[in-house]
Amino acid sequence: MSLVITGATLADGTVADLAVADGVFVPAADAPAGAERFDAAGLIALPGLVDLHTHLREPGHEDAETVESGTRAAARGGFTAVFAMPNLDPATDTAEAAAYVAELGRRDGHCEVVPIGAVTKGRDGVELAELGLMAGQGVRVFSDDGACVHDSLIMRRALTYLRPFDGVVAQHAQDPRLAGPGACCHESEISGRLGLPGWPTVAESTIIARDVQLAEFTGGRYHACHLSTAESVEVIRWAKARGKADVTAEVTPHHLLLDTPHVESFDTTYKVNPPLRTSEHLEAVREGLADGTIDIVGTDHAPHTQQDKDHPFDVASPGMLGLEEALAVVMEVMVNTGRLDWTGVADRMSVAPARIGRLRHQGRPLAVGEPAHLVLVDPSRRSTVDKHRSASKARNNPYHGLDLPDPVELTVWGGRITFRR
Ligand code: DOR
Ligand code: ZN
Repeated sequence: MSLVITGATLADGTVADLAVADGVFVPAADAPAGAERFDAAGLIALPGLVDLHTHLREPGHEDAETVESGTRAAARGGFTAVFAMPNLDPATDTAEAAAYVAELGRRDGHCEVVPIGAVTKGRDGVELAELGLMAGQGVRVFSDDGACVHDSLIMRRALTYLRPFDGVVAQHAQDPRLAGPGACCHESEISGRLGLPGWPTVAESTIIARDVQLAEFTGGRYHACHLSTAESVEVIRWAKARGKADVTAEVTPHHLLLDTPHVESFDTTYKVNPPLRTSEHLEAVREGLADGTIDIVGTDHAPHTQQDKDHPFDVASPGMLGLEEALAVVMEVMVNTGRLDWTGVADRMSVAPARIGRLRHQGRPLAVGEPAHLVLVDPSRRSTVDKHRSASKARNNPYHGLDLPDPVELTVWGGRITFRR
C-alpha cells in the first residue's frame, strides 16, 4: 500500500510531507497516484516506538495475553517493535523456543516481535542457557526478567560469553536475600503501616553496583531494567562517568508517574516488581531520563488475568499494563514539564532501544530510503483512560480513570497502517 502524510512536524520542528510506497519512504513527488492521503497538520511524526521490555504471554498464558492482543496494544501505543521477555511457558531458553516466538510474531503480530533469550536454563539462575545457539538465531538481548541473575559468577560468565555475539544482559536487579519472593511494597513507613513485606531500595542498587563493575571487568554489554530508585540512578551515573563499561539503563512509565501511596488501597493493580516508590525516587528517575543517565523507557507491559490479581496483596501476581499509555505518561511527566523535547522522546523510546537491542532497521530517521515505521502524535489531545477500551486481554491498567494525554493518531509499521484513531 502507499500513503502520503502531509504537513507533519518532525521531531526537530521542520514540517514535511512523508510519502510511503512498498514499505519505505519515497520522495513525495514519486508517490503513486492512488496513494491514500493523511492530513497531519499540527501532528508530530516520530519514528515508530520500540519497546525493549514487553511481556507477551504466549506461549503458556494466552488467557492473559497473546501475541495478537499484545501487539495490537503495542500498535495503539505507537510501537512498531517489541522485545518479548522470555518468562513464558516454556521459557525462551533455547534456539527453538526463540524461533517459535519470532514465528508467532510473524504470524500474528501487529508490530515486529523480537524474542529475548533467557540467561539461564529455565530462568532459575543456576546454569547458563544456550546463549550461543540463541545468538545464532539472531537473539541479541538476554534476560531472566522476573528473576534476578543473582549469582556473580553466572553474571560474569554471561557477560563474557555474550561479548563475541554483541549480546547484552538485561538484568532484573533484585537481590533475592534482601527482597525475597514475598517482598511487594517499597520498604518504608508505608510497608510498616500496611503490614506488607518490604522491598528495600538497596536490593536493587547493590545488584546494579556489582553488575556495572562486572561489565567493566569483562567488557560485556549490560542493561539495567526498570530502575526504580535514586541510588540505582547514582550507580549508573557513576559507571557511565568512568567511561569504561558498556552500560545502559531503563525506566518504566509507572515508575515515572505512580508513587507508593497508590498501594494504600491494597488494589493489586498497583502491585509491581520492583514496587512503586516514593516521590524522591520518582524525581530521581525523571532527572536520570532527562539527562541521559537512563537511556530508555521500557514499558514492562505485564498483563495478568483478574484471577491472578484477585488475591491478598502479598500473593497476587506482580505487574501492570503499559504499552498503550507509555507515550502518554512520557508526555505528561517529561515533555509537558519541559524535561524532554520531541527529539529526546524519539531517542528514549525508539532510537536508543533499537540500538541497545541491535534492531538495525528500527529507530531510523524518517527519511527517503528508510523503512516506513512511524507514529503520528497529537500533542494536545487528552482523555480519561478507560481500561475497558484496551486492546490487551488483561485489565490490570494502573492508569484507569486518570486524565492523560491521548496522543496516538496513526501507527505505520513497514508501510502498513497498524493503528488509526
Ligand atoms: O511486575 C513485574 N511483572 N515485574 C517483573 O519483573 C515480571 C513481570 C511479569 O512477568 O509479570
Ligand atoms: Zn523485571
